[in-house]
Amino acid sequence: MGIDYTERIPNNVDLAEDRRLKRALESWQPRFLQWWAEMGPALPTQDVYLRTAVAVGREGWAHFDHVPLPEYRWGIFLAERDADRRIAFGQHKGQPVWQQVPGEYRADLQRLIVIQGDTEPASVEQQRRLGLSAPSLYDLRNLFQVNVEEGRHLWAMVYLLHAYFGRSGRDEAEALLLRNSGSEDSPRILGAFNEETPDWLSFFMFTYFTDRDGKYQLGTLKESAFDPLGRTCEFMLKEEAHHMFVGTTGVDRVVERTAQLMREHDDDDVRKYGGIPLNVIQKYINFHYSVSLDLFGGETSTNVANYYTAGLKGRWQEERRKDDHLLTEAVAVVPRIEDGRLAEARLPALTALNADLRGEYVADCVTGVNRWNRILGSHGLGPVLHLPHVGFNRKVGTFAGHHVSPDGRVLAQHEWEAAAGRWLPTAEDKTHVLSLMRPVYEPGKIAAWVAPPRSGIDGRPFDYEYVHL
Ligand SMILES: [Fe+2]
Ligand SMILES: [Fe+2]
Repeated sequence: MGIDYTERIPNNVDLAEDRRLKRALESWQPRFLQWWAEMGPALPTQDVYLRTAVAVGREGWAHFDHVPLPEYRWGIFLAERDADRRIAFGQHKGQPVWQQVPGEYRADLQRLIVIQGDTEPASVEQQRRLGLSAPSLYDLRNLFQVNVEEGRHLWAMVYLLHAYFGRSGRDEAEALLLRNSGSEDSPRILGAFNEETPDWLSFFMFTYFTDRDGKYQLGTLKESAFDPLGRTCEFMLKEEAHHMFVGTTGVDRVVERTAQLMREHDDDDVRKYGGIPLNVIQKYINFHYSVSLDLFGGETSTNVANYYTAGLKGRWQEERRKDDHLLTEAVAVVPRIEDGRLAEARLPALTALNADLRGEYVADCVTGVNRWNRILGSHGLGPVLHLPHVGFNRKVGTFAGHHVSPDGRVLAQHEWEAAAGRWLPTAEDKTHVLSLMRPVYEPGKIAAWVAPPRSGIDGRPFDYEYVHL
């Protein structure tokens, strides 16, 4: 199914057939563009080598061209409909999926869509100033690609709100542009999306750890019995894969460069050679991993149990799970703190679905750390990078209000305070990383703190003019 780009809002949902909806979205569009102008990339550019979806099928969804950023065609693209699709879990399991929102689930579905929708523009806001210090044109292009796609993901959620939730959906769509990352008065809904992304090490960590949370949340919504939501998320996940790539290979390249400098100078402290020491990289891992774990919510949640039973939100790869997909009898083991010590609790699996999703996420994060340690290994260095304990630096769930060390010991307040600077980025670490952030806009050149990529985008060489300033 092709996408009509002569339309004001490119789409594959037959928008031309629904004049009321089309008008509503067309009145939201200028507000979106105004938000993009105010809160989107701060660096002015002529055009950027971007990928745009021209169709959602296997062939057409990744079309590359130089595009002026404000002319990027944000549109509404859903994965194709499977007419035989049935609900895979919960009390409606086996019934046909819903094409409309059942009245009794209206409020819950709207809430899930708003929370997802709120994260998309938030990351654009967080990354707004990064273009001013891009380490290369290649990286600058990747940043903008991520930004325009997060903008499109906002469109994806706004479409659902407008098309299926009437007046209150339109109000929520409006509010998505009024909240802003880090705002005192109207911050974004989730904590990690109000943190700063002031430097490119943070950006790579964000796209590795925090975008990856997004991947897992979308994975659960992709299973939804509300078919338009499932199909929307399925297509978003395709775009999201590139965001993961930016994070994974970004950290790869920082680790690579640090290892080169360590070997060249036979010195662990590569700060004086313009690099980022491994212990600082580790602290950034600790920070971004722990704030991203908070996005999974508390270990136990009756809301999430209800969403599952109702069919609104499934598990990661629901259909590949070998169980009854009802979970009325199943038991799960979740961590908790008991009398100041780490312990485990056996609970109904239904109430522990956040912990289940977090477990899938953690297993995925481990693969990145292994990869970065392999890079160190290829330079004759030991595998020193690791993920901290899930209880480390947490603000949400069972570990909130406790202090847990990266190796999983529950600490007293004074022990935590004495050691926190060894585990989380200090003001000095951040100042050093920031001091390295100088823009490099010459094709084929790259900043000294990061290695060049192994290959370019869309088969182009690294020295291609990915961005015209
Ligand atoms: Fe997204
Ligand atoms: Fe993303």
